Amino acid sequence: MVCLGNICRSPLAEGILQSKVNPALVKVDSAGTSGYHHGELPDSRSIATGLSHNIDIRQQRSRKFSIRDFDTFDKIFVMDKSNYNNVIALARNDQDKNKVMLILNQSHPNKNLEVPDPYYDDNGFEAVYQMLDQACNQIAKTLPK
Ligand code: 4NP
Repeated sequence: MVCLGNICRSPLAEGILQSKVNPALVKVDSAGTSGYHHGELPDSRSIATGLSHNIDIRQQRSRKFSIRDFDTFDKIFVMDKSNYNNVIALARNDQDKNKVMLILNQSHPNKNLEVPDPYYDDNGFEAVYQMLDQACNQIAKTLPK
């Protein structure tokens, strides 16, 4: 799960998907294309939104997306087109590029919808949660139970 800061959207996406998969069989992680918030906890509004749905993301710490992530992960879900372009720019080959997908295309195929950045919108977090929950339901269906 990848966004810009790895403090608002992708930490929620990580926590939501983690709650829907078998942790012994699926590795879920998140990162940001920027290192602006390296080492920080998720944004307090993401933490609160997660907790209101029984998703606890307080063990997460922000980190920057790394080229090594292309080797570690089979699928890389990005929140918006800017994240997509930033991750694709790091891809070494078509195999890397083919791993990168806009996450909302899982719930809304081929629409290329974006998860809006809620950083400057206190009221945007619940909507982000609902979008991610829908998308993660679809993703979880494709993963081992
Ligand atoms: P995120 O939100 O990409 O969903 O984690 C943001 C968090 C911080 C900043 C931008 C977006 N920032 O510019 O500091």
